[in-house]
Formats: sequence, structure tokens, C-alpha cells
Amino acid sequence: MVGIDFGKPLFTSEEIQRKIHELGSRISQDYAEKDLLVVGVLKGALFFMSDLLRSLKISVRMDFIHCTSSKGTQPVRIIADMSEDIRGKDVLLVEDIMDSGVTIAHVKKMLLARNPASLKVCVLLDKAERRKVQIEADYAGFRIPTKYVVGYGLDYKDRYRNLPYIAVLPMDEKMR
Ligand code: IMP
Ligand code: MG
Repeated sequence: MVGIDFGKPLFTSEEIQRKIHELGSRISQDYAEKDLLVVGVLKGALFFMSDLLRSLKISVRMDFIHCTSSKGTQPVRIIADMSEDIRGKDVLLVEDIMDSGVTIAHVKKMLLARNPASLKVCVLLDKAERRKVQIEADYAGFRIPTKYVVGYGLDYKDRYRNLPYIAVLPMDEKMR
């Protein structure tokens, strides 16, 4: 990206695509006999969702929820709810990263109250050591250390989502 040195990617776009194909194969097998509804959490899941869907070998439908993630004491806020009625449906929630787990736990609770047949969670990145609530993803791409990462949908102040790879945010960018 012009003017910013992100250094060596944490995950290159090739590594990301390889991982997505692994996840896609598992999901295709697990839902082979089901009618899956994939629900992406915007904005972070945008690119992951689009590549994951294209790696699936099964017929699926898609929907989106737009929410702000929890930050400190700031609660999760739903900006736009999904349009589909999920009662009795097999739902897979797709998110960019699970950190404290608060955001996914909140969305999961909200969706479970609507009585889906099943509800699973798929994340590309997992900062497992940072968990504040007891929740695990059913499908997780890469486990990463406690570092702030950007790219491939992940942002810092809503920027750098369009990097085609994932990189650790340079310290001097945090200072700006
Ligand atoms: P949680 O509620 O703490 O699990 O946070 C999840 C949300 O925080 C994600 O949906 C991201 O929007 C954001 N987030 C957490 N860690 C990172 C990171 O390293 N880079 C970019 N966004 C992050
Ligand atoms: Mg975010």
C-alpha cells in the first residue's frame, strides 16, 4: 500500500487461499446432506466470505449481518440485520477473526433465539489466548498470536481491509 511498509506478510494470499480450500472441503463434507445458509458478518468477513463460498462444493444460500464489534466497554451494535428467516435452518456464521469472543458470542446468542436447526461458526483467524468469554469456532483457519493484524477484510480504523494479504499492523501506524 502506498507509503506504508507492512513488512513480510503474516499470511500471503496463496496461504490464505490454501487454508480456505481446506475449510471449504470440510464444510462441504459436513453439510453435504443439508441446506446451508451462510451468514457473513460485515464488514470484516467480506473477502473471506466471498472466497469461502466459492470454495464450497455444495449449493448454499447467503446472507449478511452488519455489526460493530465490541471494543472495551462498548457493546456490540447491530447496524443491519439479516433479511432471511433462519427458523429451522442450518446456519454457518462467518467472521474474519475471533479475539475476546464477545462479538461472535453476542451474534450467536441473538441468532440462537430465532431457533435455527443448527448454528456453527467459521472464522479465518483465531486469537485463542485472548478469549474473555467461553466460545470456540467450529471451523478456524489460522491460530495467531496476540498481535493486531490488518488486510484481507481486517481493518485498523476502517483502513487496510483491501490488502490482498494479512500483515501485522506496523507500530508507527498505530501512533498516527
Ligand atoms: P472480539 O469481540 O474481541 O472477538 O473481536 C472481534 C472483532 O474485533 C473482529 O470482528 C474484528 O473486527 C476486531 N478485531 C480483533 N482483533 C483484530 C485484529 O487483529 N485486526 C483487526 N480487527 C480485529
Ligand atoms: Mg472490525
